[in-house]
Amino acid sequence: MPVLRRIPRLVTCADPVGQAELGEMRDAAVAWRHGVISWIGPDRALPADFAGETEFECDGGLVIPGLVDCHTHLAFGGWRADEFALRSRGATYQEIAAAGGGIRSTMRRTREATETELEARSRSFLEGMLRLGVTTVEAKSGYGLSLADELKLLRVYRTLDADGPVPVVPTLLAAHVVPPEYAADRRGYVDLVCGSIVPAAAAGGLARFCDVFVEEGAFTADEARRMLRAAASLGLRPKLHVDQLADGGGARLAAELGAISADHLEYTGEDGARALSAAGTVAVALPIASLYLRQPPMRARTFVDAGCAVAVATDFNPGSAPSWHLPLALTLACTMNGLTPAEALKGATRYAARAIGLEDSRGALEVGKRADLVVLDADSPDEWCYHFRPNAAREVFVGGSPVHDANLAATRA
Ligand code: NIG
Ligand code: FE
Repeated sequence: MPVLRRIPRLVTCADPVGQAELGEMRDAAVAWRHGVISWIGPDRALPADFAGETEFECDGGLVIPGLVDCHTHLAFGGWRADEFALRSRGATYQEIAAAGGGIRSTMRRTREATETELEARSRSFLEGMLRLGVTTVEAKSGYGLSLADELKLLRVYRTLDADGPVPVVPTLLAAHVVPPEYAADRRGYVDLVCGSIVPAAAAGGLARFCDVFVEEGAFTADEARRMLRAAASLGLRPKLHVDQLADGGGARLAAELGAISADHLEYTGEDGARALSAAGTVAVALPIASLYLRQPPMRARTFVDAGCAVAVATDFNPGSAPSWHLPLALTLACTMNGLTPAEALKGATRYAARAIGLEDSRGALEVGKRADLVVLDADSPDEWCYHFRPNAAREVFVGGSPVHDANLAATRA
């Protein structure tokens, strides 16, 4: 059994409740078999029969569970630096979208891209994420907006997941916006989603969740109900992008539909937070998007106080969040959303795993969970989130395998 020894400080996230409960151990060791944790405890108590096994020395002050990015739009064509520049001069996200840019501009580039091109590009993003300690990634479709192109994106995720080493959890987001060819017939597009795209994604086992962007300029609550009920009837659990640009009652809608997570929530108030808490829906904070769009950040404290589990994710996409840097999102969750470093860390491990239905197998360091571990050049979660660096990860283990990568060492400085 391989074992990681002499860990000065270990954060387990083993406690299923309590946003700030990290479950720390000092001078610890972790052992695993076939990629699954089989022993964890004080180094001095490591059973003698581990002698002679592969031993890794801990080259850092803090070990945390592999990070889980529970909200990304991983595969897309092109970038939108032009829109970033326009927004820097005062244009709003909504104005740019109304003029034909935004999601529809990425849709055009994504439709032009081949499956192989999208796969190669997304793979390089995943490699960058892994070096930072991200060992599980949720990925949404949503830039195809036709049956063929949405399935193309979901197949990219299936290939990436099969190839490893980073597991990719696919979400169908055909309801991102109404594509231009249905501009005069939005009902026709909702029919297409319910009648063709959702069934095809479900039949092929290509998606685990179904997401809808509920907002002015995207979809209404009633349209979301129709599509998410159709998806749920075929086994795709709802997720929702809600209340990002205005309070549209999205949190209550997510609670009503039994969504596994409600994401964004920048404009959600106390009522919405209470509804999510009662429904057991994870509230996902996406501070990089708030930063880039100059939106008021989601008030994470309101959600924690209401009893919600709050997750933190990147929202990586070419428009509102063109960065896959999850540790950056955690630092911002502290400075913008009002979480403490410990709370933010729980939000990118155990609670992020909960937001994608994988809490049983990852997001915490416990016997029986995957041996996904990150060795950090930090002595505490406080110091890690505070002293933001390009990469504080010194070693990453995914399913028990160390990520040997020259870039990991090169990006430490
Ligand atoms: O989560 N809000 C909707 N979707 C993305 C943005 C997509 C884009 O601008 O391309 C988000 O912020
Ligand atoms: Fe998003």
